[in-house]
Amino acid sequence: MTEPGTQRKGTLSFVRRNGRISDAQERAWRELAPTYVVDVPRDVAETSVHPDARIAPADEFGRTAPFVIEVGTGQGHAILHAATENPDTNFLGVEVYHGGLARTMLEAEKNGLTNIRLIEANAPEVMQTLLPEGSADEVRIFFPDPWHKKRHNKRRMISPGFGAVVGRVLRDGGLLRLATDWEDYALQMREVMDAEPEFERVFEGEWDERFAGRPMTAFEKKGLDKGRDIRDLTYRRVAR
Ligand SMILES: C[S@@+](CC[C@H](N)C(=O)[O-])C[C@H]1O[C@@H](n2cnc3c(N)ncnc32)[C@H](O)[C@@H]1O
Repeated sequence: MTEPGTQRKGTLSFVRRNGRISDAQERAWRELAPTYVVDVPRDVAETSVHPDARIAPADEFGRTAPFVIEVGTGQGHAILHAATENPDTNFLGVEVYHGGLARTMLEAEKNGLTNIRLIEANAPEVMQTLLPEGSADEVRIFFPDPWHKKRHNKRRMISPGFGAVVGRVLRDGGLLRLATDWEDYALQMREVMDAEPEFERVFEGEWDERFAGRPMTAFEKKGLDKGRDIRDLTYRRVAR
């Protein structure tokens, strides 16, 4: 179901389906959300961010530390892995999938992780206005929805103009890490990001090496099982 009664400007990279969530996931939202989920004032829709809302990452985590944002955390595999491996880094997951966020909270609690926070919102809005400019050391986007039908391509998150959105929140020298199993989207990502004035390529050759910090997720496995190549791309925020 899309969000009813809303008049949002622009094209979204997701269609929200409010499926049933389990009792455990409901408990996560009731009992764990106060710890893990950053409340966001909304604009017109339930996953929107009010344009006047601002947060300070250090306040949300209760400490100053290197700051990594993961966009589209899904079930949370990558962010949970990264937070476990890097206890001295603050990790913010931005996702619109209610059930996936619940699973991420349950696993974070089980593993005693204190360096994860989550935001249930449209990621571009979070990077455009909610977070301070230049506050992030890294932004990671692993297996974004490929929207592979031609008529849906316009929903792809990494499309012209995305450099300004993600480049705003990254500090100078900060990294954008991308991965996809859709060749056509990988080519689009490279074309788009090569042309964005805020970024420069970090890798040499056609594609980057597989990012060692990324665990194998269902999306990557499915791609590999179907014989697809997984493409990694890394870009650096150039000095402002
Ligand atoms: C194909 S899944 C990949 C999930 C995860 N990164 C993985 O590798 O398993 C893409 C995810 O991005 C989320 N997503 C898509 N557009 C988004 C947006 N604009 N803001 C936040 N999350 C978004 C979707 O809800 C979905 O969970």
